[in-house]
Amino acid sequence: MKLLLAEDDPQVRVELRELLSEEGYTVVTAADGIEAFEKFRDDTDIELMLLDIRMPRCTGLQTLDAIRRIDSNEKRIYETIFITGNNDSEAVIAALKLGAFSFLFKPIVIEQLLAEIDDAKDRINQRRYRRFREDTLKAQVESTTNQITRLTDELRGGFAGAVELLARSAEYDVPGIDLHVVRIGDMAACLSARLGYNTLQQQQLRLAAMLHDVGKITGPRELYSANRQLTPEEFEQTKSHTVDGAAFLSHHDEPVFAMARVIAEQHHENYDGSGYPHGLSGDAIALDAAIVHAVDVYDNLRAQRPYRDPLPHYVALDNMVNGDEKSTPEHFHPKVLQALLSQHRDIEAIYERFRIPAVNHGNDSA
Ligand SMILES: [Fe+2]
Ligand SMILES: [Fe+2]
Repeated sequence: MKLLLAEDDPQVRVELRELLSEEGYTVVTAADGIEAFEKFRDDTDIELMLLDIRMPRCTGLQTLDAIRRIDSNEKRIYETIFITGNNDSEAVIAALKLGAFSFLFKPIVIEQLLAEIDDAKDRINQRRYRRFREDTLKAQVESTTNQITRLTDELRGGFAGAVELLARSAEYDVPGIDLHVVRIGDMAACLSARLGYNTLQQQQLRLAAMLHDVGKITGPRELYSANRQLTPEEFEQTKSHTVDGAAFLSHHDEPVFAMARVIAEQHHENYDGSGYPHGLSGDAIALDAAIVHAVDVYDNLRAQRPYRDPLPHYVALDNMVNGDEKSTPEHFHPKVLQALLSQHRDIEAIYERFRIPAVNHGNDSA
């Protein structure tokens, strides 16, 4: 162990140095407080200081005070034993406040000095061990937290992937429709952000919205994949995909599925009560479903249909705001329609990002 001995009396300094060296300690000496401060600061191997309280230029107390200031986050582990020539109780109290380990009074009794140094060594070892345990624990907690975060991310990603696949499976054989659910998820999340949903609610809605048409999984498949406009009777049959989807999703009560169940059941309800399957109106329709309803209509207007060409962005918006042969503006929740118009650039960008590439019927020139 390396000691710093700061003592202005040369004779005491030399005697103590020899004695402590004989005991196996490496001893660095200083003749005053400033020298002691500099040597301690520059030599990080020093673990124990023996500081005379009364020294020229800078007292032992000032030395320890200065050292504590440069090590304010207590990175170094060390102890201080003060040496004092008289019973100066004020200095003793000040030294204790500064964190002194103990005191020795002159004339120094050798056995007492060695015993104090032994005790200080024990304290240093205990502190070192405690620091080691803390560091190890901190590293363990950090590594475990990282693992949990990675695992949570993987699970979240896996869950989202499974929901997307389930949603897409309901219409996997319908020509040109496969990315519809992905667009609806993103568009719904986009509008919900505008309507004040928090981040978690937006993420849940994104997944739940993808499942809006999952009821189509029970068929009739030939109608959903028919490459023509449906007859009124056939259209009636397809309406059951709402309640079928809700029934299918009720098998699981995870929050995303609970949200999806309501969306599946209500995403064809119109705000004015003219929709299906229940003819709900106004606030009886869940806002989640009203959002999906609006983006579903927008996306369908943009898409190629067997009976009509895809509509450009502005025409699709115009049809929703001013009405067309299928719908009137009263079909939509006013706030949702407003949010759609406010965010229309983002909605268009989502459509373009997941647009199905046009089929090229011409000859490749490349
Ligand atoms: Fe639907
Ligand atoms: Fe849809």
